[in-house]
Amino acid sequence: MYNYALHQQINEAVQHAGIDIGGEDNLFYTRFMANTADIFDLYMQLYEHHPKAEKNFQQLVQLIIKAHTERPSALKSRDEQKREKGNWFLSNQLVGMSLYVDRFCGDIRGLSNKLGYFGELGVNFLHLMPMFESPANESDGGYAVSDFRKVDQRFGTLEDLEALQKEMQQQDMYLMLDIVLNHTSHQHEWARKARQGEKKYQDYYYFYNDRSLPDEYDKTMPEIFPEAAPGNFTFIPECKKWVMSVFHNYQWDLNYNNPHVFVEMLDTIFFYANIGVDVLRIDAPAFIWKQLGTTCQNLPQAHTILRLIKQCVEVATPGMALLGEAIVAPKEILNYFGTGNYIARECDFAYNATHMALQWDMLATGDTKVMLAAQHELLKKPFGTSWITYTRCHDDIGLGYDDYMIKQAGYNPYEHRKFLKDYYSGEYNGSPARGALFSSNPKTGDARISGSLASLCGLEKAIEQDNESAIALSIQKIILMQAHSFFLGGVPMLFYGDEVGYTNDYSYLHDSGKSYDNRWMHRPVIDWRKNKRAEEPGTIENQVFNDTQRLISIRKQLEMVADHSNLQWMTPHNIHIAGFIRSLGDEKLFCVFNFKDKPSYLTWFAFKEHGYAPAQLKDHWSETLYDVGDDREYLVIPPYGFLLLQPV
Ligand code: GLC
Repeated sequence: MYNYALHQQINEAVQHAGIDIGGEDNLFYTRFMANTADIFDLYMQLYEHHPKAEKNFQQLVQLIIKAHTERPSALKSRDEQKREKGNWFLSNQLVGMSLYVDRFCGDIRGLSNKLGYFGELGVNFLHLMPMFESPANESDGGYAVSDFRKVDQRFGTLEDLEALQKEMQQQDMYLMLDIVLNHTSHQHEWARKARQGEKKYQDYYYFYNDRSLPDEYDKTMPEIFPEAAPGNFTFIPECKKWVMSVFHNYQWDLNYNNPHVFVEMLDTIFFYANIGVDVLRIDAPAFIWKQLGTTCQNLPQAHTILRLIKQCVEVATPGMALLGEAIVAPKEILNYFGTGNYIARECDFAYNATHMALQWDMLATGDTKVMLAAQHELLKKPFGTSWITYTRCHDDIGLGYDDYMIKQAGYNPYEHRKFLKDYYSGEYNGSPARGALFSSNPKTGDARISGSLASLCGLEKAIEQDNESAIALSIQKIILMQAHSFFLGGVPMLFYGDEVGYTNDYSYLHDSGKSYDNRWMHRPVIDWRKNKRAEEPGTIENQVFNDTQRLISIRKQLEMVADHSNLQWMTPHNIHIAGFIRSLGDEKLFCVFNFKDKPSYLTWFAFKEHGYAPAQLKDHWSETLYDVGDDREYLVIPPYGFLLLQPV
């Protein structure tokens, strides 16, 4: 039913703020009116019964107006440009890199001197790992924030960040930053006040007088860091209470039952939007709503919060896309794009964490069956949304795809996962990989995998053994992994260091703030003398850099690689070969990847059974022209080789 009172309320608020509804603010006003009913409805689904629901809703309305009025005009014009482009973030022109500014180049100012490096590689989208204030030794890589508005002095200042954003914008680059929505550092002002006994701030978190409720919660909540931070609650001696801390004990979970918390965090989201963030990475959204008797992950209210954020952003700062960092079961990941009336109206992006892990599965087994068994889920991604595709990031690799997918491929899930963990931790006899198990949980038998792209592909061991052919093979694997994720659909996100083949960095073991967390082994400190070797022909760095650069450039030339939900899997005539078709109009690209350590054979019929019979195919990678053979003849793909074949 039309909510007249609500529209009146918005109208009054807008007019009171001096918004020029018929003039320059007309689009904002239109968006606001179009989304008001949804915003109100989503908000009330969460807070209808809260005594301060009304008051906080008024604040929310004020925040939206403030975000719009404070939005710099350069960003408003950029919003317009993005709108005119349509789904700007689906483009094949975008290629990202995720990096720690301090480990990459010292500080934010140093980064502005490196923009040329990204340009040379072809990267035009940067995910800068968290830089807001975070206690040095209890930081979780910046994901324990003690001040959401203050850039940590180790990185520079807010002015430096704003200057960098402007420079990036001038160079047509895009910026991604994190909002750590689920928790704050225990040193955050709210946490300090809560610790001192202020009830108002204790209500920002989940505080308990004794263990009775925590014990109940613990019965159904899994542990995220069972080794470094067992359990989900931490005792606070100052106030003699327990606080929920799902991640580390210094990361306290925010309580979104409290509308104040939502409004405070929305304000921070707008603050980041108005710095010029193009994609906001919402950290750990699966965890933001808790309910006794559940795993406290992926709950419907978590989606309601994300939808509410999305609609507010859509009104006030529409150029900012949202990435939900939900590293959960495949089916659950898909829900973060929205469901029902909210399809493609929740997160614009999610990480394709399932496929990332499946690539590692294929590389270890040489078999594509498990990967294919997962695709019916992944192909459900709604039109207009996209993946972040990647081989490695700052986190571990979790083998979180479903047991039924492994069974469908004919394997025993327990044995299969055990093999993968042994293979990548180097336990498995003959494994070339050098990684480590992360967060092993003896109670459940679960473990995830740490290690850099290069080390997991065998480069570390090959260099140590001075084995030329093993070095060549590991480089081949690195590029195979990158190529597969670059052409799959979505925005590829490189992890810094991988573009020149960094192997594991063990220096973290000498730092007490990091040694308990082996994810630091794959978060290298960049040595620019090493990166400089990318210019010397014949070096490993040169080969990996050139190949990565060439892959990026090929991706940018082929529009059918943009994510228009235009991916079709080829029939698996050979289980070692992962093949998919990307198409746009009449244009097609057949991408075939051999995950086997031996040459693999693919019948030419594979290219003819999709209503198309090309006579010749051009491989963009090797720049070779192939005559399509007879159905009884085969295309031979070398060990860990791949082809990007376009009909000519
Ligand atoms: C996300 C981050 C991870 C961090 C966790 C807790 O998953 O990617 O690095 O430890 O959230 O903030």
